[in-house]
Amino acid sequence: MLNRNSYLDIRSNYSLEKSNTFGLDVTSESFYIVKSLNDLRNVLSENKTRKITVLGGGSNIIFTKFLDGLCLKIDLKGIDIIEEHKNNVIINVMAGENWHDFVKWTVNNGFGGIENLSLIPGLVGAAPIQNIGAYGVELKDVFISCKTINIKDQTEKEFDEKNCLFGYRTSRFKNIDKNIYIITSIKIRLTKEKHKYNISYGSIKEEIGNREINLKSISKAVIKIRKSKLPDTNLLGNCGSFFKNPVIHESKYFELKKKFPSISAFKVEKNQYKVSAAWLIEFLKYKGKSIGNVGVYKNQALVLINLGGATGKEVLSLANKITYEVYSTFKINLQPEVEIL
Ligand code: EPU
Repeated sequence: MLNRNSYLDIRSNYSLEKSNTFGLDVTSESFYIVKSLNDLRNVLSENKTRKITVLGGGSNIIFTKFLDGLCLKIDLKGIDIIEEHKNNVIINVMAGENWHDFVKWTVNNGFGGIENLSLIPGLVGAAPIQNIGAYGVELKDVFISCKTINIKDQTEKEFDEKNCLFGYRTSRFKNIDKNIYIITSIKIRLTKEKHKYNISYGSIKEEIGNREINLKSISKAVIKIRKSKLPDTNLLGNCGSFFKNPVIHESKYFELKKKFPSISAFKVEKNQYKVSAAWLIEFLKYKGKSIGNVGVYKNQALVLINLGGATGKEVLSLANKITYEVYSTFKINLQPEVEIL
């Protein structure tokens, strides 16, 4: 039950349609926008017995049913250069900052390291949860630490890079410590000079062409590539990649390569290959197809889209169908990259 004397502006039966980029119209039992750390401590301590769901940009979440308990929208703002050295800077960013706006700020200030992560939807606080990555760069490459608040007892704790247990689209916050902490800010180190440009992935080099290679041209190229492959969440509801690219043992990869010579994959570690889930889905002729109000995007088979009025159940039924067929054909278990609630 809500505390009747609470001064906090907690809304009841709140539609989350505008709070998730897939545009799923589900209702949250209670909804609260967190504007300060004090706010966060208060709302948590006043709602100790309730189920808490933390929402960032809602760009990696599929709601399949009424959301009971209290949904917190993190709106903590602030970007601060906290240390400046000859070659690099250390920046503290609050969890509620928009990720892409923050990347633009770094590029405009001449700070290097996350230009390849341009145009990733979502908020800064969600970035460590799944160790966001694109075009050969991952958050962990620049990450120093993040500050958190424990949902149950409101104690504060800082986790350094090593302690976050980052992996491919994962961290401790997605596994052993799922739903335990709320990330309130992150600290990263970026270069001021002698930037280490990363232009080897995909078509970045071709996209830059004859232009000078610098932070701005790389960011621009990444934005152009992403725009051509990934639908604009404002125009077509989606959550970016719906599945992770499966990592398989090389013996299994060689076996598949014999049977499916055009399979797309690359070596990630000793004996391990990362297979393109988009290739598997495209091979099964799902690209551009739809079932009900949910489709597979025509330019990127890894992206499911809302064709209008889709429900979480419809998303799940298409996702399950794809997972089942991928398993039947390739004996590979696709795992969702998005969070399904
Ligand atoms: N491909 C296909 N069909 C398609 C699209 C791609 O066969 O429809 C094959 C091609 O062989 C292509 C390869 O897949 O060369 C890789 O495609 P792409 O560069 O688009 O990357 P991805 O592996 O499909 C991953 C991330 C994206 C990230 C891009 C670029 C995951 C789950 N997804 O996609 O991240 O932007 O690489 O680095 O790792 C996200 O996480 O939401 C996301 C969009």
